Order: sequence, then structure tokens, then C-alpha cells
Amino acid sequence: MNKRLSVAIDGPAAAGKSTVAKQVARDFSYVYIDTGAMYRALTFKAIRNKKDPENEGELMELLHSMEITLVPEGSNQLVLINGENVTEEIRTSEISNQVSAVSMHRLVREEMVRRQQKMAEAGGVVMDGRDIGTHVLPEADVKVFLLASVEERAKRRHEENLLRGYESSIDLLANEIARRDKLDSEREVSPLKKAEDAVEIDTTSLSIGEVVDRIKELMIERL
Ligand code: CDP
Ligand code: CDP
Repeated sequence: MNKRLSVAIDGPAAAGKSTVAKQVARDFSYVYIDTGAMYRALTFKAIRNKKDPENEGELMELLHSMEITLVPEGSNQLVLINGENVTEEIRTSEISNQVSAVSMHRLVREEMVRRQQKMAEAGGVVMDGRDIGTHVLPEADVKVFLLASVEERAKRRHEENLLRGYESSIDLLANEIARRDKLDSEREVSPLKKAEDAVEIDTTSLSIGEVVDRIKELMIERL
């Protein structure tokens, strides 16, 4: 039987990580784990409970009371907090604009990484995030770092919004994306960074299928 690989996909906001990670996981019958959804879930709870994103102690108290479950559903993934479905609610721009402040805390990251490593224990996983290749799965069989220009990423998010039925400004999206990348890259604890042994793929002018095929080639080389 083939070895069940661990695949780490990192990169900045809207580079296409979750889209390609889901397809790769589906094609190999692996589990897809969206670690960003876990930080978003904590941010959602903090806002709902009027907690200060700067207050690490309060966030930790909240996190300890939260069971965050990622449930595969067709080609998507449901996000549950103590059984409550928050899949849609964690994607708002309010959450996107506050999540970096929540995810910068050392204790929050340690707890999230502990949970993520447990989820990946059995192998056969495609995990996406910011620190997967560097911290969560430093021994991953395949590490990929996805990039795309800020303009292209803002355009992709804009198109996604149109499909969901609402208008957005590409310039505003570009500003939000650039701001979040800066916060994620400059934080002290496990910042967004390409692992030394990760393969960088600039997806600016690539189709989703081309990126998926490239990652699958890297996986097949390791099998
Ligand atoms: O999908 P998008 O690129 O917009 O973001 P995401 O993957 O849902 O991640 C949301 C935020 O969570 C990021 O901007 C980071 O602040 C944080 N995050 C992190 O710190 N480490 C991870 N492994 C994943 C996400
Ligand atoms: O997970 P991350 O925030 O990195 O990106 P995403 O949520 O997968 O969003 C990327 C968006 O860009 C999706 O709407 C994709 O359909 C689109 N896209 C892509 O992911 N990759 C390409 N090469 C081209 C477009």
C-alpha cells in the first residue's frame, strides 16, 4: 500500500491555498484541514463574546471552552464550534480584519498547533495555513508555498464575492489583503514564511488545475 503523505500548503491570503488543497485531498482521498478556519472560529467567538483580541488571557479562556471541529462535506468543509455550524459566519470581512490580531498570541498558537498536529497524526492529510511547513508539520513529505500578486488575489476574492451575490471594491480588498499579509509576516511567533525546503509556486498566471497538477506531481515523486 502507498505511504499516506502529509502535505503542507502555506502562503499569503487568497493565494488559492484552500481551493487547491481541497482538490488535492479529494483526488488522493486524504483529509483536508483548513487551519485558518480555526483562528477564524476563535476570532468569531471573541467578537460575539465582546472579548478584546489583544487580551491573550481572555482568548485562552475562550479557546479552552471551544471544541472546533472540521467536518468534510462533499468538496467543502463545515466548521463547528461546540457543535454550532459557523462555516459562513467566520468568512466575513469583520473576521478577516481582526483574525491577525487574535492569531499573533503565543499561547493561542501553541494550543492551535497542538490541536492541528493531533489531527494530522495519522498522515494522509493536506493542511493549509501560514506556519504548516515551518511549525505544525516540519517533517511534512511535501511542502508548498503558494504566491500570487496582491492585485490578482484581490481580483479573485472580488470574483468570489460576485458569485456569492454581493459587490466589493477590488482596491479595498487589495488593501485588506496587503494589511493582513503584513501583520501575519511580521508577527513574532511563527510568522508567515516559506519553509526552507518548500517549493514555491507563483500562481498569478496559473489556473487552479495547473497548480493542483504541480502539487500532485510533487506528491507522486514522494510515493
Ligand atoms: O483564506 P484566507 O487566506 O483569507 O485566510 P485563512 O487561511 O482563513 O487564515 C485567516 C488568518 O488566520 C490568517 O490571516 C492568519 O492571521 C491566521 N492563520 C495563522 O496565523 N496560521 C495559520 N496556520 C492559519 C491562519
Ligand atoms: O485559501 P486561500 O485564502 O489562499 O485562497 P482561496 O480561498 O482558495 O481563494 C482563492 C480564489 O482564487 C478562489 O476563488 C479560486 O477559485 C481562485 N483561484 C485560485 O485559487 N487559484 C488559481 N490559480 C486561480 C484562481
